[in-house]
Amino acid sequence: MYSTLFLQEISAEWQELYQAALEARNRAYAPYSRYQVGAAIRCRSGAIYTGCNIENASFGLTVCAERVAAWHAVSAGERDLVRLAVVTADGSAPCGACRQVLAEFAPELAIMLADVSGNARITDLRALLPDAFILKR
Ligand code: THU
Repeated sequence: MYSTLFLQEISAEWQELYQAALEARNRAYAPYSRYQVGAAIRCRSGAIYTGCNIENASFGLTVCAERVAAWHAVSAGERDLVRLAVVTADGSAPCGACRQVLAEFAPELAIMLADVSGNARITDLRALLPDAFILKR
């Protein structure tokens, strides 16, 4: 499912996205979990949109970094999402809710899961969310 790589082995395109996600992670508002997440999405237009997790005292209102990044892109008028980089302390994969939100706009999204030391895995949304629920329009 994954090819495990070190950041230096990854293309300049992924490295730029990694840097954007790493910087976004520094803006995480995570006073409750202390688990910071940064995400960066490259769109077909070439633009990069970032997101960080934003927690709330009413815990269920917390929003993940991946959804913030996706909504950032879509609210800027983007519809064609091409790549996503996620940076966490341990290189974790997106939660199920975020996978479903991403599938709405980019069922074939290429995804890099990385940690803050530059260890990275490359996968895609088809692997992370097989047989996704998408309405045919
Ligand atoms: N979180 C994300 O930002 N992305 C995920 O895919 C999983 C979890 C955040 C939510 C919460 O602020 C913290 O990580 C711990 O769950």
